[in-house]
Amino acid sequence: MRVLLIGPHGRLGSAVGDALAPRHDLVTASRQAGDVTVDIRDPQSIAAMYEEVGRVDAVACAAGGAPYKPLTELTYEDFQAGAADKLLGQVELVRQGIAHVADDGSFTLITGILARRAVRTGAVSSLANGALEAFVKAAAIELPGRQRINAVSPTVFAEALDAYGDVFPGFLPVPVRDAAATYVRSIEGAETGQVFALGD
Ligand SMILES: NC(=O)c1ccc[n+]([C@@H]2O[C@H](COP(=O)([O-])OP(=O)(O)OC[C@H]3O[C@@H](n4cnc5c(N)ncnc54)[C@H](OP(=O)(O)O)[C@@H]3O)[C@@H](O)[C@H]2O)c1
Repeated sequence: MRVLLIGPHGRLGSAVGDALAPRHDLVTASRQAGDVTVDIRDPQSIAAMYEEVGRVDAVACAAGGAPYKPLTELTYEDFQAGAADKLLGQVELVRQGIAHVADDGSFTLITGILARRAVRTGAVSSLANGALEAFVKAAAIELPGRQRINAVSPTVFAEALDAYGDVFPGFLPVPVRDAAATYVRSIEGAETGQVFALGD
């Protein structure tokens, strides 16, 4: 399959790339590196990416961020930033991608444990992840041409404990390769409308 991977050089994206590369033709995109440049916060940038890349069999997103701050310090702009990046960035990859993904193709989005569990400073992430997971279920029943869509929803990665360990005290981490294997399941399997939760 020809797979468009967004965010290929991050913790998650590099593991997803390693898992897919042996069997698939990868096209990579991010803001600073990759075959194509894209900023998923900008719909015009997404349009230019799809124009340049052409037809693909799968879109796999391993990008998207949201600010972590105490609730009382979060501004309206913080919520807008998280919505524009992790939430609407990925929704727009799907909305525009419908015209560029082959019949029987798939979208795999990244969400996270904060859709179902709460931590201090995680309100924007919880909002984005929960909304995305609802969107995945809704989009699955309307995608044309037997296109499929799933979300990978991991807890904190073992490889990210140095950066996020204090935010997730006592949470059992998952190795990033487990999340990468779940992308393979989503892309090569037949399931759709699923939220693949890793960790609790
Ligand atoms: N880290 C964790 O423990 C964890 C757990 C559960 C879920 N997640 C989710 O997994 C995803 C990836 O996390 P990570 O730890 O792998 O992050 P990371 O190491 O910071 O990597 C992010 C990747 O996405 C690209 N990227 C970032 N913003 C982008 C944008 N606006 N447009 C296009 N590309 C963009 C980056 O490349 P450029 O800088 O070149 O754009 C980079 O390749 C995030 O959505 C995160 O919320 C992470």
